[in-house]
Amino acid sequence: MKVCEYQPGLEGIPAARSAISYVNGAEGILEYRGIRIEELATHSNFLETAYLLIWGQLPSPAELESFQQEVRYHRRIKYRIRDMMKCFPESGHPMDALQASAAALGLFYSRRALDNPEYIREAVVRLLAKIPTMVAAFQLMRKGNDPVQPRDDLDYANNFLYMLTEREPDPFAARVFDVCLTLHAEHTINASTFSAMVTASTLTDPYAVMASAVGTLAGPLHGGANEEVIAMLEEIGSVENVRPYVESAIENKQKIMGFGHRVYKVKDPRAVILQELAEKLFENVGYDQYYFIALELERVIEEKLGHKGIYANVDFYSGLVYRHLGIPTDLFTPIFAIARVAGWLAHWKEQLAVNRIFRPTQDYVGEHNRSYVPIEKR
Ligand code: SDX
Repeated sequence: MKVCEYQPGLEGIPAARSAISYVNGAEGILEYRGIRIEELATHSNFLETAYLLIWGQLPSPAELESFQQEVRYHRRIKYRIRDMMKCFPESGHPMDALQASAAALGLFYSRRALDNPEYIREAVVRLLAKIPTMVAAFQLMRKGNDPVQPRDDLDYANNFLYMLTEREPDPFAARVFDVCLTLHAEHTINASTFSAMVTASTLTDPYAVMASAVGTLAGPLHGGANEEVIAMLEEIGSVENVRPYVESAIENKQKIMGFGHRVYKVKDPRAVILQELAEKLFENVGYDQYYFIALELERVIEEKLGHKGIYANVDFYSGLVYRHLGIPTDLFTPIFAIARVAGWLAHWKEQLAVNRIFRPTQDYVGEHNRSYVPIEKR
């Protein structure tokens, strides 16, 4: 057995052999099942991309139609889950609401028939179908309103935006949103995917696996960064304040949200596409000052930190796009989760095929043979 030196954060340590996606951090390349992300963003859509990630091949027209129908059919959630969500505090973060409701799905569906391909397919369809409904339901309920039912006449992106806003979205906005979902769907063994794999390796149910992954994605160093980016742009407030802000952050060793990446040492290819989408949106509906602050921020960071391989990542421009679509800032990470369910499910399925429970070791640095000291003598 090959023994590796301890690496903080398991940096550079392979945790799986996977055929789902590939990242070349030096050249800024991302492929899903061997297809470049630029191709999929241009020609595909999220549900077709989810099929590709999970089953390994692009679906035939009949396979895609059947998959879309199955997802449409399973979008509704049990009324008991809606009733449970009505007890959540309005002030609660939507990621906590999503983690709780994702875990609650497990209460309704037979557990752990993991050797049954039909059970696997049902779990895949249910999670892809119901996660958006639960995100949208909490949004309406925390405003004191009843959630709206999914609309079977709308496709995946249009239906989510409809459930969120109670209005049919502008077709261009829905297309932009769908591309964002594709861009966020999968990214090799990132923290939340690794969390999903570790949970999956104990052969628990897929709903518990998703709940683990949602909880991991929520952190500001991972999926939560997109929400922090908007707060940072608001704090900077003007293009003139960018340089002083960056210089102060670097001096205080403060991480700048939306920049840096464990793997990419050039601009994240997803950030390139998201910036183009942001520009198209702004051309359509007008630029706001945050876009110009973001451009200046990226320029100054490249000047100051580019030599360390610190460039914009996927979270830097995504928030600007979502904000322009009228999505509340604290829903940015739940939307990241809606997309990443596809990647988490792909790795869950791949893991089950070759499963061995994750149980790493440690370098023990503590003491030995200490004596117990009675409380009266401490
Ligand atoms: C995602 O893994 C994935 O694939 C994730 C993701 C996905 O699709 O799943 O791509 C999605 O999570 C994107 C990342 C979103 N997070 C952020 O934007 C938060 C800000 N970024 C950093 O926290 C950081 O860059 C990480 C967490 C993303 C990566 O951190 P690493 O690889 O552990 O790097 P590090 O913290 O060890 O930093 C190395 C050096 C340090 O400087 P030195 O101490 O060596 O002098 O780079 C510096 C860091 O201070 N650095 C930064 C920085 N990121 C790293 N300095 C300022 N701002 C930053 N953002």
